[in-house]
Amino acid sequence: MKQQQAIITRVGAPEVLQVVERDMPQPKKGQVRVKVLAAGVAFADVLMRYGKYPGTPPIPFTPGYDIVGVVDTCGTGVSTVQVGQTVAALTQFGGYAQYVCLPEQELLPIASGLDPAEAVSVPLNYGTAYQMLHRNAQIKAGGRILVHGAAGGVGTALLQLGKLAGLEIYGTASKPKHKLVTGLGGTPIDYKNEDFVARVNELTGDGVDAVFDPVGGRNFNRSFQVLRRGGRLVAYGFSSMLDPNGDSPLKLAKSLFDLSFWSLLPNGKKASFYMITRFKEQHPDWFRDDLITLFTLLQSKKIKPLVGARLPLSKAAQAHELIESARLTGKIVLLPQG
Ligand SMILES: NC(=O)c1ccc[n+]([C@@H]2O[C@H](COP(=O)([O-])OP(=O)(O)OC[C@H]3O[C@@H](n4cnc5c(N)ncnc54)[C@H](OP(=O)(O)O)[C@@H]3O)[C@@H](O)[C@H]2O)c1
Repeated sequence: MKQQQAIITRVGAPEVLQVVERDMPQPKKGQVRVKVLAAGVAFADVLMRYGKYPGTPPIPFTPGYDIVGVVDTCGTGVSTVQVGQTVAALTQFGGYAQYVCLPEQELLPIASGLDPAEAVSVPLNYGTAYQMLHRNAQIKAGGRILVHGAAGGVGTALLQLGKLAGLEIYGTASKPKHKLVTGLGGTPIDYKNEDFVARVNELTGDGVDAVFDPVGGRNFNRSFQVLRRGGRLVAYGFSSMLDPNGDSPLKLAKSLFDLSFWSLLPNGKKASFYMITRFKEQHPDWFRDDLITLFTLLQSKKIKPLVGARLPLSKAAQAHELIESARLTGKIVLLPQG
C-alpha cells in the first residue's frame, strides 16, 4: 500500500516542498502507526527548509513538528495505546504525511471529539507558551508581561494562558492585528511604528516582570531593558533571521551568548533561552503533565486555539508561503486525509 507525504527536496523557496507517494510505513517493535488527521505547520519548518535550523535531518526529509491522528496499527510489544485511539505528538519532523510511525511513548492519548486542527495547535504552540510562563518565568497572578509576536501562534497562546493566570499583558504586533490582541485581553503595541521600550515604560511606569521574545538579536537587548527588578527575559527564537533588515547570523549567535552573561549582572534580572525539544528531553514527565493540563483546558473550552488555515497536504508549499508572509494569524494546519 502507498501513502502520501511532503518532502523538502533541497534548500530553498516554498516550491522545494513536494508531495510524493511512498510505501506505507510499517511499525517496528514498540512503535505505532498513526493515521494523521492534522499536521501543524511551524515557523521552525520554514527555517529548516532554508537550512537555518540547528539539528535539521539531511535532505530529503519530511518536516512537521506536531500531529494529531488515530492509532492505525500497533507494532509488537506496544501496551499503552490501542487501535482507534486519538493521539497527539510533538514529532519535530515527519508530520506532513498521511501516516507516521512513532515510538508509543511519544503519543499522548486525547479525547476523540476534539477538532483535530484545534488540537494540533496544542503541543507546540500552547506547550511552549505554558512552559515558558509556568515552568520558566513562574509568573504569579497580578504579574505583568510583554509578549512579542502577540498575534502569532505562540503569542496568542501566551495571551490566552496569561489571561487565565490573571496577568496584565502587553503585546507587540503589526497594526492590522491589534484588534485580535485587544480581543484576547492584551494591550497592543505597534512595534513597527513606535519604540516598544519607550511605550512599555510609558504604559507601566516601571516595566514588566517577564518578556517572551522570539525575535532575537538586538531585540533581546531591548526586551531586557523593559524588565523591572526581579524580572525575567525568556528568549525562544530568532524569527528576525528571515528579515532582510535583521541582524547578521553572527549578531544573532552573539545575542544567544549574551543571555547567560546578562544573568550574571547585579541588577536582579535574569535571561534564558527556552527550547521545547530540550525541555521535553530533560523533563519528560513535566512535558507530558503540561500537555495533559492543556488538553483538559481545550476540552473544557478554557482555551480556544486560532486556526488560520486548513489546507490539504498538496498545499504544503502554500502553507509555508502563508507563514513567511505573516499575513494570517493563528495556526496553519495541513489535513493529510484530504
Ligand atoms: N524555542 C522553542 O521551543 C519554540 C517553540 C515554538 C516557536 N518558536 C519560535 O517562535 C517564533 C514564533 O512562532 P509562531 O509559531 O508563533 O509564529 P507565527 O504564528 O508565524 O507568528 C509570528 C508573528 O510574529 C510577528 N513578528 C515578526 N517579527 C516581529 C517583531 N520584530 N516583533 C514583534 N512581532 C514580530 C509577525 O506578526 P506581525 O504582523 O505582528 O509582525 C508574525 O505573524 C518562531 O521564531 C518560532 O521558531 C520557538
